[in-house]
Amino acid sequence: MGESHNFRLLVIICNLVVAMGALHISVMVFYYLRHSGAGEYVWSKQVPTASQRAAFTTPPGAEDVAVVSANVTEVTWILEKCPETSPHLVGPLRVEFSDPVDLDLIRQEPLLMDGGHYKPSECLSVQKVALIIPFRHREQHLKYWLNYLHPILQRQQLDYGVYVIEQDGEGTFNRAKLMNVGYAEALKEYDYDCFVFSDVDIIPMDDRNTYRCYEQPRHLSVAVDKFGFRLPYAQIFGGVTALSKDQYLKINGFSNNYWGWGGEDDDVSNRLSFRGMSISRPDVMTGKCKMIRHDRDKNNDPNPQRFDRIAHTRETMDTDGINSLTYSVVKVEKDKLFTKLTVDIGKADTFTPTQTHI
Ligand code: BGC
Repeated sequence: MGESHNFRLLVIICNLVVAMGALHISVMVFYYLRHSGAGEYVWSKQVPTASQRAAFTTPPGAEDVAVVSANVTEVTWILEKCPETSPHLVGPLRVEFSDPVDLDLIRQEPLLMDGGHYKPSECLSVQKVALIIPFRHREQHLKYWLNYLHPILQRQQLDYGVYVIEQDGEGTFNRAKLMNVGYAEALKEYDYDCFVFSDVDIIPMDDRNTYRCYEQPRHLSVAVDKFGFRLPYAQIFGGVTALSKDQYLKINGFSNNYWGWGGEDDDVSNRLSFRGMSISRPDVMTGKCKMIRHDRDKNNDPNPQRFDRIAHTRETMDTDGINSLTYSVVKVEKDKLFTKLTVDIGKADTFTPTQTHI
C-alpha cells in the first residue's frame, strides 16, 4: 500500500517535472521570438553559402541564429535588423583620382549580384536604396564612382542597386528628367523605398555619410571641395541627395522641363519647401566630398530659362513631374557593378512620346 502510494507520487512528480520542462521551453521560444521580432525577418530556406556563413561569424552587432529545422539538410537563417550605425565604417577616406582603378577587383565581391545589386548577409537592411546616376559621356568618372562607392555602400550595410541612366543622342542634357526615369525604372525591378540621386563626379570622403533616407529629404554632398568644403547657399539641393519614396511622391518627383545646366535642383528645393519639408544634412566633416574636375560638357550649357522656371515652381509642380514623365528605353546593359539604361527623353518642348512607362 505504502509502496504503491510512493510510486504514484513518483509518477506525479515525474509528470510535473516533464510539464515544467515543456513550459520552460515554450517560454524560452516565446521570448526568443519576441526578442527577434520574427515577423519582420527574412526566413530563407536555403543552406547559406560558405561566404554567407563566414560573414555570420565575424561582424559585431548582429546576433545571428541558425535554427535547424525538422529536415536537417535545411537551415533557416534569421537575420537581425542592421544596426542604426554600421560597425564596418572607417570614417575619413582617401579619395584620389590619380590612383589606378581596378573594377575587376570590385566585381569580385561574392555578394554582388548582376546589375549592381548587393545586400548584406549578416543583417537585414532597414531600407532598400536605389542609386540613380544621370549620365552621358563620363565613362572615366563612372569608373571612379563605382570603384569608391561600392565598397562604401557595402560597409554601410545597405541593400542597394546602382542605376546609370544615360541620355540617348546628343540633344541638350536634362539631369532631372533622367533622375525621374531612374526612379521609375528602378521600381520596376525591386521594391526600393529610398532613392539616392548622385552626380557621377562626386565621391564622399567619409563613409559615415550614409547613403540612405532620413526623416527629411537629405542633402548628402554638403561640403564639396569645389565650393571650398562649404555650402554655396543655404537652399542648395544639388550633387547627391536622398529622398524616400514618400518624400519623392509628395513633391511629384522632379521637373521634366529643365534642359541644360542649372536650376533643376533649386526647383526640387522649392518643391520640398512648398510641401512643408526641410532639408537635412550631415555635419560638415562627415559631409565632405570630392568632385572630379572636368570641362563643361557639350550640350549642357547654362539654361537661360532656369530663373524664370524656378520662380514658378509652385504653379508647375503638380502637373510637371513623375505624373507627366514620358520616355522610352533604347538599351539595357547589365554589368556586375551597375544597370545602365540608355533612354530617349526627347527634346525641349517637342517630345512626342513613343512609349509611356508609368
Ligand atoms: C544652380 C544650381 C547649381 C548651383 C551650384 C546654381 O546657380 O542653379 O543648379 O547646383 O548653382 O553650382
